Amino acid sequence: MKTPSMIEAKKRTKNKVNILYNEYNITDDMKIGTNKTYHIKTYGCQMNEHDSEVIRAMLEDMGYTNNDTMEKADVIILNTCAIRENAHNKVFGMLGRIKHLREERPNIITCLCGCMAQEEIVVNEIKTKMKWVDLVFGTHNIHRFPILLNEVAKNKEQEIEVYSKEGDIIENLPYIRDNKYKSWINIMYGCDKFCTYCIVPYTRGKQRSRKHEDIILEVNNLIKDGVLEVTLLGQNVNAYGKDLYDDYRMENLLEDVAKTGIKRIKFVTSHPWDFTDNMIEIINKYDNILPFIHLPVQSGSNNILKLMGRRYTKESYLTLFNKMREGIKNISITTDIIVGFPNETDEDFEETLDLYNKCKFDLAYTFIYSPRVGTPAAKMKDNITEDEKKERLERLNKLVSKYALESNKKLLNKKVSVLIEGYSEKGNDMLMGYTDTNKLINVKGDKKNIGKIVNVKVTDAKTWSLNGEIID
Ligand code: SAH
Ligand code: SF4
Ligand code: F3S
Repeated sequence: MKTPSMIEAKKRTKNKVNILYNEYNITDDMKIGTNKTYHIKTYGCQMNEHDSEVIRAMLEDMGYTNNDTMEKADVIILNTCAIRENAHNKVFGMLGRIKHLREERPNIITCLCGCMAQEEIVVNEIKTKMKWVDLVFGTHNIHRFPILLNEVAKNKEQEIEVYSKEGDIIENLPYIRDNKYKSWINIMYGCDKFCTYCIVPYTRGKQRSRKHEDIILEVNNLIKDGVLEVTLLGQNVNAYGKDLYDDYRMENLLEDVAKTGIKRIKFVTSHPWDFTDNMIEIINKYDNILPFIHLPVQSGSNNILKLMGRRYTKESYLTLFNKMREGIKNISITTDIIVGFPNETDEDFEETLDLYNKCKFDLAYTFIYSPRVGTPAAKMKDNITEDEKKERLERLNKLVSKYALESNKKLLNKKVSVLIEGYSEKGNDMLMGYTDTNKLINVKGDKKNIGKIVNVKVTDAKTWSLNGEIID
């Protein structure tokens, strides 16, 4: 048994990160999944989505097949998120449901992984009160999952293996993409920014960039497999390379990925601190780097930004924002905002609204601050009432909808480029896809266009989506 410690997770060492290429191997005695099924529930960010694709591939290599119905699956995996309290609550609620299921089907194997598995308090609770959870593994040892699952299936005893700290970078793990035409690519792991509210630097370890050669190889393989769009993933992608190279940075990586000829490139998430002018130049230079940037601001008040440890001011954010708006044609910019951070006064919140009115973001993800055990902000006095927090969120969300609609309306009757992914939930043979500015669009047109990038005329603009017709 190996359980995590937040104090260890917080430490940053200069230990060399090795890159291992041959760690993954499924031997015949690990193929225990024949005639058995699995069901994965994924919570949290794109990084978790992609980790679930890896876990899926491992299970299928072991002989298991996917089961859309959790109630009927032999192995249930909860890939969890620790970012806010409500993410926690959802998982504990689900664990309650699975406990009931086990009363009828005692042979179900229940696994919990992802960011909650890295939290000391969560693991302690599972260890002491939830003996029926069979396997807990963390974000640093996903590659060990098949071995651990095999052990649990044989021994029928609770197994917990969570490393507090990051280890090596494991290359060549398999994954099964959820989407035929789009793929996630991790370009780096971890985060060293330590924003005072955030648990990610503890659950994902120190920043570790993958080698650019390995990333490019992956892109080239995806192109051969028919992939049209890649999203380069990291908590803080603009800092790519800083931990690994003297002079190879995100702008170099973006350029090298663009040169592979892949049709569309996106990247998330950008931290304003590391965004360089050269990046703007590169985004402009290559048509296949999409004009879409997610640039979380978190707050419009300098007092709060300072307490959050974000390393920029409202003014410097606005300068960067304006450079992007002016420098990149048709750019769409989205953001994240937290309301109700400790000590946020009415004036501070008004500053956030003011910044929002200046930026008129294409979209924003807005959150009520949630204290995370072990982070510096959790020690600050949470001195804003629930009602105030909710009221601020509501006021902010009104602006979010207003400007989302406004920015969509600007596209009315315009021609936009869309990757058609499949049928729309709207039915009536409607298709769906995303524009090059990352806007969801429901499209009228022939199904032969699925899997193609086509030009679409926008016929209707709503707050959260567009409608259109394929023109060529
Ligand atoms: N690496 C990204 C964000 C990762 S988390 C970045 O730096 O921008 C995604 C979003 O969750 C954050 O941008 C923030 O808005 C929100 N978030 C993170 N911790 C939070 C907390 N403790 N309470 C509420 N929202 C939080
Ligand atoms: Fe969290 Fe800040 Fe790192 Fe983003 S940059 S993951 S908000 S610590
Ligand atoms: Fe959640 Fe972990 Fe992502 S905390 S947001 S799943 S990095």
